Amino acid sequence: MKVLVTGGAGFIGRWVVDLLIKDGHQVWVLDDLSNGRVENLQEIKTGKNFVEFVEGDIKDTQVLRELFRNKFDVCYHLAASINVQDSIDLPKKTFDNDVIGTFNILEQCKHHQVKMVFMSTCMVYEMAKSKDGITEQNPVKPASPYAGSKLAAENMVLSYYYAYGLPVTIIRPFNTYGPYQKTGGEGGVVAVFLKNKLANKPLQIYGDGLQTRDLLYVEDCARFVVTAGYSDQVNGEIVNAGLGMDVSIKELAKLISGDHSRIKYVEHIHPQSEIQKLLCDSSKANKLLGWHPDFDLETGIRKTEEWIKSTTLI
Ligand SMILES: NC(=O)c1ccc[n+]([C@@H]2O[C@H](COP(=O)([O-])OP(=O)(O)OC[C@H]3O[C@@H](n4cnc5c(N)ncnc54)[C@H](O)[C@@H]3O)[C@@H](O)[C@H]2O)c1
Repeated sequence: MKVLVTGGAGFIGRWVVDLLIKDGHQVWVLDDLSNGRVENLQEIKTGKNFVEFVEGDIKDTQVLRELFRNKFDVCYHLAASINVQDSIDLPKKTFDNDVIGTFNILEQCKHHQVKMVFMSTCMVYEMAKSKDGITEQNPVKPASPYAGSKLAAENMVLSYYYAYGLPVTIIRPFNTYGPYQKTGGEGGVVAVFLKNKLANKPLQIYGDGLQTRDLLYVEDCARFVVTAGYSDQVNGEIVNAGLGMDVSIKELAKLISGDHSRIKYVEHIHPQSEIQKLLCDSSKANKLLGWHPDFDLETGIRKTEEWIKSTTLI
């Protein structure tokens, strides 16, 4: 197939591109490099199925018009502003990228009849109320402009399925971690904790650390994303993916540091937008896509730590 990946130079995007190429597809990448890096694609770009990297913005409709002349079969739309705190500080940027940018992509998909896989997030959910975890029926709650923008975009994407019969799938992966994730303040919690551990710095926990996360290893996440684009079974559907096990941030810090004295509690930067319990029920992904995670938390953390030690990218 001919495939477009927006945000393909980012953390999850580069794994999605890698897998699509291994599966034999021709891949184009659109990314404005606002948070991605061409270096993330270095090893992948040399293969003959990597067709083109376009440095461009999903808000630039002229760039999109030209790019979509390639008659794609599937568009994986991952490009987005992803930082919760930034969305609270500067909601317009997140709204413009995540809602208007998605609308622009959607218009092109409609014009050229391209299946769209829209990358949403578990951050749209209200916290898990039971030990069985969050299914796609769980109530949503736009606790931050990031979540609000993703929900708005989801609704637009679904409306193109109902109004125009466009094949679309909404996917909501849970918090994802692994190699190539940034380890600065904006990175995921696993990357930030590992970097601080390796630098002999304290591991800072926002609030009491009792908030939980269902942590999905990035190769499992990428397999989920890619598979959603291959199947007509999930057209018009919303589908979750996670490990199916949650861990408190406090437990995670202990697991990563191995040394409790290194853990430091600091005031939460946005307690009002915190989701206290995130635990995924992936039964629908398993039923419709045959998807299940292959990497447990310990293995994923070990692989991430090995990568951080070996790379010059951070
Ligand atoms: N990391 C997670 O835990 C997680 C979990 C669920 C869903 N997601 C979603 O997955 C997607 C990828 O997230 P990630 O963690 O890899 O983040 P990322 O920031 O590494 O990837 C996003 C990419 O989009 C690009 N981008 C941003 N705005 C753009 C624009 N206007 N035009 C073109 N490119 C633009 C960035 O440069 C970056 O490369 C996002 O949609 C995010 O909301 C992430």
